[in-house]
Amino acid sequence: MTKNKLFIETLVGNQYDRVPFWFMRQAGRYLPEYMALRKEAGSFLDLCYNPDFATEVTLQPLRRFNMDAAILFSDILVIPHALGQDLAFKVSEGPVLTPVNNLEKLEALRLDRLHDHLSPVYQTVSNLSKALPSHVALIGFAGAPWTVATYMVNGRGSKDQAETRLMAYKDRGTFTKLIDMLVISTSEYLIRQVDHGAEALQIFDSWSGTLPADEFIKWCVEPVQEIVENIRTVHPDVPIIGFPKGAGAKIKNFVKKTKVNAVSIDTSTSTTWVRDVIQPLCTVQGNLDPLLLVSGGKPLEKAVFHILDHLKNGSHVFNLGHGIIPQTPPENVKMVSDIILNYRR
Ligand code: CP3
Repeated sequence: MTKNKLFIETLVGNQYDRVPFWFMRQAGRYLPEYMALRKEAGSFLDLCYNPDFATEVTLQPLRRFNMDAAILFSDILVIPHALGQDLAFKVSEGPVLTPVNNLEKLEALRLDRLHDHLSPVYQTVSNLSKALPSHVALIGFAGAPWTVATYMVNGRGSKDQAETRLMAYKDRGTFTKLIDMLVISTSEYLIRQVDHGAEALQIFDSWSGTLPADEFIKWCVEPVQEIVENIRTVHPDVPIIGFPKGAGAKIKNFVKKTKVNAVSIDTSTSTTWVRDVIQPLCTVQGNLDPLLLVSGGKPLEKAVFHILDHLKNGSHVFNLGHGIIPQTPPENVKMVSDIILNYRR
């Protein structure tokens, strides 16, 4: 079933005349039908943990835009939640957790309830693998250990991840234990998603950009490399996409060491550099500025063609450089989808 899906074939390095596409955060607040369902569910987490709602929310964007892939609707923070950390999503604040910033709090976390807690997510994956149109691939995902750790240690999002970087310097032993725990839980979580029908996986490292080069290797490259190895021991063929957001030139080493099949490229990275340096190594995904999708018009159209033209001689999945933002007019998503669907290289 997975075979012959344009998205999957492109991830493993094949090239076709049409470029497959999907958008990060393609399900979400820019869609009125999402807002209606979130209201019905009660909260964002209630959506994530209710397989019927989560399945429906995942399918919503596909009814409008004909993407080549659907991404499981969930969040990267269900892992700390499953380990026993408190988690709430406050409407104007984003996620709020009770910080895990010393050995005692780390030792209070438990790996043994992981799969029980996450079973609704696995049920959603099973539902989706039955419900999706036959040409649409199902992407499972998780946060990378570093990015998840930044929320666990700080208790909320932060601009420069200073608390977590400080802990990594000052209490390296405890921080290493935290990352190790996340490597194990994330590997198991992703393996289960594939068991239940996920056909590709994406690992989001949204905050890798603030780390100095050596710390980047230690906390971003090595943990993702281990996760990729763990998954491939069980599922050798499932394509894996890395997303070391903000890593710039360090993307090259990331790809070589982790051996991901594809790398998602953020908006700040030049497509010329990506074409010359990264595309010879693996499939690239990206990298339209989500703000252009808000502003629309000719500049949006021009940018879409620019990306398609620049990356057309190698394996390319069209996507954004980061997630769709709530102010995005759905008509602009439609316009971009139609350009990509009609483009031939
Ligand atoms: O892409 C998709 O359509 C799949 C669903 C998905 C969500 N979060 C749903 C979501 C995915 C892949 C994520 C990943 C995620 N979550 C990341 C990595 C990617 C990135 O955006 O950097 C991170 C850092 C998180 C943590 C998180 N979740 C934050 C910081 C927030 C608050 C900020 C915001 O956008 O509101 C969330 C909430 C969240 N996750 C929403 C959605 C649809 C909005 C919740 C709502 O309905 O209010």
